Amino acid sequence: MSENSATLNADGMTVDMPVKSGTIGPDVVDIRKLYGQTGLFTYDPGFTSTASCDSAITYIDGDEGVLLHRGYPIGQLAEHSSFMEVCYLLLNGELPSADGLSEFSRTITRHTMVHEQLSTFYRGFRRDAHPMAIMCGVVGALSAFYHDSTDISDPEQRTISAHRLIAKMPTIAAMAYKYSVGQPFVYPRNDLSYTGNFLRMTFAVPAEEYVIEPAVEKAMDRIFMLHADHEQNASTSTVRLAGSSGANPFACIAAGIACLWGPAHGGANEAALNMLKEIGTPDRIPHYIERAKDKNDPFRLMGFGHRVYKNYDPRATVMQETVREVFTALKVKDPLFETALRLEELALNDPYFIDKKLFPNVDFYSGIILSAIGFPTTMFTVLFAIARTVGWIAQWNEMISDPGQKIGRPRQLYTGPAARDYVPLTER
Ligand code: ACO
Repeated sequence: MSENSATLNADGMTVDMPVKSGTIGPDVVDIRKLYGQTGLFTYDPGFTSTASCDSAITYIDGDEGVLLHRGYPIGQLAEHSSFMEVCYLLLNGELPSADGLSEFSRTITRHTMVHEQLSTFYRGFRRDAHPMAIMCGVVGALSAFYHDSTDISDPEQRTISAHRLIAKMPTIAAMAYKYSVGQPFVYPRNDLSYTGNFLRMTFAVPAEEYVIEPAVEKAMDRIFMLHADHEQNASTSTVRLAGSSGANPFACIAAGIACLWGPAHGGANEAALNMLKEIGTPDRIPHYIERAKDKNDPFRLMGFGHRVYKNYDPRATVMQETVREVFTALKVKDPLFETALRLEELALNDPYFIDKKLFPNVDFYSGIILSAIGFPTTMFTVLFAIARTVGWIAQWNEMISDPGQKIGRPRQLYTGPAARDYVPLTER
């Protein structure tokens, strides 16, 4: 193997494949010509060793616990930035100037209302529908309303659709919540911040004035920042794959929402909080740790482990600090936080979790904060979807702008029957 190529010997054939380097991170073997030259496919279920695209948006070093957006560490962004600024950064590649940021925030604010007719969609859902089911449906339906931003070959339309999606997600999410509790929808207000507006649309009622608690607004904004993008995770890859066929952005984001819903992905914070409730008090933790280690028991410690992080998830660190801030501001105490801290401590000292490099992920603490703010568990993944929309749309736009982009079409190792003749019904 030369310095910048990898050699594969298989079936008596020798193939040299270029090795490409990014700015940081592992090099990649470019196998695009492999099938053409050898008739062989690679086999990588779950894409554990596959880079599916070039991307300049987010970098993760899972072993070191590093997460960078456009080069900026997540810890610095969480401390000094805002969700609006992170949105601008992810979409445009650079931090905005002060004027650039207020212009961007103004644009997003002006897109927060949804077409009035969209509100009639909600009545088609059962009141007890999971809000993620509503999100999949209503966000997908946006493509039926905003025809002037579905031409993906027009960069300006792509930008407008990105702004619309980022702006309307909180409105749609708050409406999903309001519908489930039987309260009237609350319209957005242009004098509020992105996050303040969302809190008001979710928790305000017409009967009285809603006061936004600054510590809660800050915590919520930080939670949005922590979830804004995460490289080529399952939902982002879903958005890219859906978009690779030329589907419109609203349909692609609806596909991302569907993928995010799963308990191994965005649904994990709901599952983590439910698990903490089930465990209850710290004295019951050892029993659950034993269950998590038992190969014959499907139970896993939710909020623990990550496909990429084999170290402490840097977002979990910020999340743990944010729990304390919210509790202090709201003057609340939640015994589940003590249970979570103790569970983390015991797991991190247990050889099973040490050997498998299983650390708390972003979802381990987020449920505790969201619950303290007043969100029901069914809304947790919805909040994740609001935040991740900017990552999805930035990644989608990057893909569409890439001249080398092709429709995503993986191959397979076929294990079904070989060709055989149809047997008439009377002979079976
Ligand atoms: N509890 C107990 N054991 C675990 C856990 C866990 N939470 N996570 C992984 N393991 C074990 C597995 O049993 C497996 O053991 P084995 O090698 O003896 O078979 C080993 O660790 C590796 O696990 P995989 O499932 O192969 O790892 P993978 O990278 O595919 O999965 C995942 C990552 C899905 C996140 C997994 O750790 C998990 O299910 N965690 C709980 C759910 C969760 O918190 N998801 C949130 C992810 S973050 C996000 O989406 C924002």
